[in-house]
Amino acid sequence: MTKTATKTTIKTTPTTIAIDGTFASGKGTLAKKLAAYFGYAYLDTGKLYRAVGLRALEAKADFTDGLALAKLAKKVTAKELDNPVLKSGPVGAAASKVAIYAEVRAALYDFQRGFAANPGSPYKGAILDGRDIGTVICPDADVKLYIDASPDVRAERRYKELLSYGEDVSLAKVTADLTERDNRDQNRAEAPLKPAVNAHLLDTTNLSIDAAFLRVKALVETILPHK
Ligand code: C5P
Repeated sequence: MTKTATKTTIKTTPTTIAIDGTFASGKGTLAKKLAAYFGYAYLDTGKLYRAVGLRALEAKADFTDGLALAKLAKKVTAKELDNPVLKSGPVGAAASKVAIYAEVRAALYDFQRGFAANPGSPYKGAILDGRDIGTVICPDADVKLYIDASPDVRAERRYKELLSYGEDVSLAKVTADLTERDNRDQNRAEAPLKPAVNAHLLDTTNLSIDAAFLRVKALVETILPHK
């Protein structure tokens, strides 16, 4: 029998975990916990759209002019992602309005893909959460998750969160905003929110954050046993 040399391919690119899901599904909290546990860099990509939304609100921009909004998107820097104002309800709504434009989305591609490709030392990889990470931004991600929960539970969570920021809101208003946001995110032509074909689905309606984390952690350890 002749021996043939076998060539081992070693994957050198950093590991990527893509987490998509609905608004207030718990995906951000899960992503942060996973990143801390596995030693990965974390990017909340919603903040990029929120930063564009905030810039547009401040500039009193025309929300029907995708090209003008894309110009604002091109100016977004990592530094402004720490602005606590980004967390507010009005900025979130503005984010989902600017996010419908292909030009705005394209202006934010490089930032997101660059983060995944170069998470930087000492990180072993990157976790990105958003709406189109597994479908558009990182289609080759090593692990893809899609997180959802019932609209009522998500509205309740978001309501409590906004109260904790000192916002004066009612549960009814939060519920109405959530329905509007779901519709816009799921039905837009550009990168609509949907699970990637090979995404692992998790419904957090009846799960505490710790229970959800343990499930996802176990899943990641199964898929990436050597990480
Ligand atoms: O996740 P978050 O609520 O911060 O996102 C704000 C909005 O930004 C979303 O409702 C969505 O319209 C948009 N977004 C997006 N694609 C992403 C992340 C957020 O379209 N990857």
